Amino acid sequence: PTIFFITPTYPRREQFAELTRLGQTLMHVPSLHWIVADDNPECNPFLTEIFQKFGLPFTHISSPMPSNYRKRYFVPRGVSNRRAALKWIKANAASGVFYFGDDDNTFDLTLFSEIRDTKIVSMFPVGLIGEFGVSAPIIEGGKVVGFFDSWPADRKFPVDMAGFAVSVEYLLQHPNATMPYKAGHEEDQFLKSLDLKMSDIEPKANNCTKVLVWHTQTVKKPKHNLKVPESIFSNLRTLLEKL
Ligand code: UGA
Ligand code: MN
Repeated sequence: PTIFFITPTYPRREQFAELTRLGQTLMHVPSLHWIVADDNPECNPFLTEIFQKFGLPFTHISSPMPSNYRKRYFVPRGVSNRRAALKWIKANAASGVFYFGDDDNTFDLTLFSEIRDTKIVSMFPVGLIGEFGVSAPIIEGGKVVGFFDSWPADRKFPVDMAGFAVSVEYLLQHPNATMPYKAGHEEDQFLKSLDLKMSDIEPKANNCTKVLVWHTQTVKKPKHNLKVPESIFSNLRTLLEKL
């Protein structure tokens, strides 16, 4: 089965570095289709150019966050663009597995062989999440019986976006499934909208005893306030104007 790897991304100074690192991870994975969903009014052509360089099958779509959500105190990040990616899958795929892989996370290559045979929804631990340092399903007798997560928040499925994969067939059987514009509740409500039952969850990563994905976060550096003089070496000018 093909893995559809959905990456929401948005313009900021770290974006090219994040996507270069991620693309060079994905280059090692067979039968993977990368769906990069740009939170931007249009697909950034400089990004399309680097995706071509990686030589993997990809689709670059754009779907900016509606401006009213951007003004919220808790901004629902990556929802509009993940929704667009789901729409693309529904229109273009008949089988396979999809996974939400943020542009700043870190992925062990083993993750891909683990999720590839997902029948309904598979789940597995995510490292570097919240106060507990890990978010993971609790397993008893090979079945998911609960969740270990430092932010339960009345969620039925207190998991991170990077902690589950879904079969495309299962999505197609639930055409009304959608992700809400509700920060912190995207995963739970999306999984509920798929009508997921606890007993259907497939534990991966050796019965959820291994961390194969980390919720790494890149430190944001402030923009330099250097005025680029006309007389500067032209290569430095080119570099500095991009920072
Ligand atoms: C946490 C969770 O781990 C994410 O799975 C969840 O999407 C996110 O919170 C959320 O707020 O919903 P976190 O590291 O705090 O992740 O968030 P970011 O990495 O800043 O954003 C998550 C993804 O959405 C990234 O791929 C990012 O590029 C993208 N994003 C972020 C946008 O597309 N637009 C934005 O305005 C911000
Ligand atoms: Mn992140």
